[in-house]
Amino acid sequence: MVDDEMMKPRSLNPGYIRKEFEKKTGKLSHSTFMGSYASCLVASAWIQKHGRCALIPRMRYDSLGTRYSPQTHMPDYVRSRTLELITEMIERDNIDGSLAEVGVYKGHFSGQINTLLPSRKLYLFDTFDGFDESDKNKDYESGYISGCDFVDKAFKDTNIDLVLSKMVTPDMCVVKKGYFPESAGNIEDTFALVSLDCDLYEPMYAGLEYFYPRLSKGGFMMLHEYNYPGFRGVKPAVADYEKKYGQIPKIPIPDMAGTLVITK
Ligand SMILES: C[S@@+](CC[C@H](N)C(=O)[O-])C[C@H]1O[C@@H](n2cnc3c(N)ncnc32)[C@H](O)[C@@H]1O
Repeated sequence: MVDDEMMKPRSLNPGYIRKEFEKKTGKLSHSTFMGSYASCLVASAWIQKHGRCALIPRMRYDSLGTRYSPQTHMPDYVRSRTLELITEMIERDNIDGSLAEVGVYKGHFSGQINTLLPSRKLYLFDTFDGFDESDKNKDYESGYISGCDFVDKAFKDTNIDLVLSKMVTPDMCVVKKGYFPESAGNIEDTFALVSLDCDLYEPMYAGLEYFYPRLSKGGFMMLHEYNYPGFRGVKPAVADYEKKYGQIPKIPIPDMAGTLVITK
């Protein structure tokens, strides 16, 4: 769908992109377009082809090229660029603390976090064996997920060595294999940035309960799948957390999986 004409820098404005996509796909709803599938696809394709971003010329991807290589990352321009801006703020404002991702899978996003903040400790939480049966069944029963082969078999094809091979400073990584939150114990640490990407209600709620109190002032959490139709348990997990502990500052971003950014 992305042809050479659409890859010209002068063509990369949202109006042009929308018109060109609509020529090929028919009319797009506003939310579909703003939901960024089209813009992410074009931006990601541009970055992959040229190694840099035409929309933000100062951003060069050659030095961090691994973030977009097919082996390490499903390209999601908005998610990656948001992470990059957040990490710049953390460094600039001297926000203290370690980093964590709960739901690492093959280490795509953890690898980006480690590339951007290589000298901070990064905790990597995962079963490394896919979803927990009881978490999954609760989401089925609540109607947050629908039965399909993908969910039953998902995320089992990974291992710790593969994940660590994505890191630029593997010595800064602490792997926490097992069921979260039990795998966490009581870590004596504070956090500047936490990515929660477990898809299901239970571990996402537990991630908020565990990490939000340990988040430094000025720190960030990124919750994947908040506005994502495939995994519908993330939004109620946030709502239930807020009902119990009070409102938290929330910023939804239009990346491919509708990430929610939380700060303190
Ligand atoms: C969508 S994948 C993570 C993708 C990764 N963050 C990325 O962007 O490439 C979700 C991961 O969450 C893990 N997971 C889900 N529930 C978990 C739990 N209760 N404890 C530990 N890991 C869990 C799964 O094993 C799976 O690897």
